[in-house]
Amino acid sequence: MKPSLTTTILPADGTAAEAAADCLAGGGLIAFPTETVYGLGADATNARAVARLYEAKGRPSFNPLIAHVCDLKAAQDIARFDQRSLRLAETFWPGPLTLVLPKAPDCPVSDLATAGLDSIAVRVPAHPVAHDILRAFGRPVVAPSANISGHVSPTTAAHVFSDLAGRIDLIIDGGPVSVGVESTIVGGFEIPLLLRPGGLPREDIERVLGEPLGRITAETHATETSPLAPGMLASHYAPRTTVRLNAKHLDADEALLAFGPEEIPGGAAAMNLSPAGDLVEAAANLFSYLRALDTKGARTIAVMPVPDEGLGEAINDRLRRAAVPT
Ligand code: TXA
Ligand code: MG
Repeated sequence: MKPSLTTTILPADGTAAEAAADCLAGGGLIAFPTETVYGLGADATNARAVARLYEAKGRPSFNPLIAHVCDLKAAQDIARFDQRSLRLAETFWPGPLTLVLPKAPDCPVSDLATAGLDSIAVRVPAHPVAHDILRAFGRPVVAPSANISGHVSPTTAAHVFSDLAGRIDLIIDGGPVSVGVESTIVGGFEIPLLLRPGGLPREDIERVLGEPLGRITAETHATETSPLAPGMLASHYAPRTTVRLNAKHLDADEALLAFGPEEIPGGAAAMNLSPAGDLVEAAANLFSYLRALDTKGARTIAVMPVPDEGLGEAINDRLRRAAVPT
């Protein structure tokens, strides 16, 4: 994406949270301080805003994102807690701990933000500015670190500006952050697992759980039915229906996932990722359309070619993973 937006920087004073919430509500992208690192936030329930976020970061693939909420009650609207996870949340939130949990039945977070998984990563940040923004906005905010993909995570507003000026709408400057490394991620609560070491020490978590945290190993992956660290798996979100890539024609028993104005004719079950050929729109629709076509009873989902540029690279990465036999 060419840097083309005007990026406003606001000091974190009395009106900043309202401005940030308004921007989020309009589908905008805001950088804001959390206690760990600056986050790049988007409305988690708005797939188009989430797609813009991936694009602004230049993420090569749609890693699932962490949904940030203002308190445990809001977290319980989007995720299902068991006794162990509730205990950790009550002990360490707000704070640098992310929990990967089963999605709540009516979870409003877009499938794109969770990369089509049935689980969701949730966190209640401790920074007062983050808290005020989340409270003012009233919906979950997905936020990876506010840097270009592959760069070091930002701990000041100036770091954010040097990476993302022209790519995002607003930066809320709350000064340097306190923790400086990302949150610790814990998941897999039947066997609690440390998915990412981070700002909350493992020992503190183990003391509260009264048991050691497992580590991610090849074996853990092989035996789990739901992927715990999806970025590490070849097949990430795979529909049950076989996926055929680069389709130039459609067979009678196939569903069609189209892209662009020149759609292949004749499909009974057809959805177009973006009739206008807009890759941001296509990314926003990708996971939910794959899910919808998966219910049509077709032999195969035939996918038209998507250009391998901008968000197209991430779309194609995800489509290739979806096409890997499971
Ligand atoms: O401290 C932090 O956590 C920062 C601040 C901004 O809050 N955010 C952050 O987000 O580090 P990000 O996107 O860089 O890291 C998210 C991590 C990824 O490694 C991703 O694979 C994992 O969380 N993740 C998200 N959802 C997941 C899920 N359902 N299952 C397993 N891992 C998940
Ligand atoms: Mg990061």
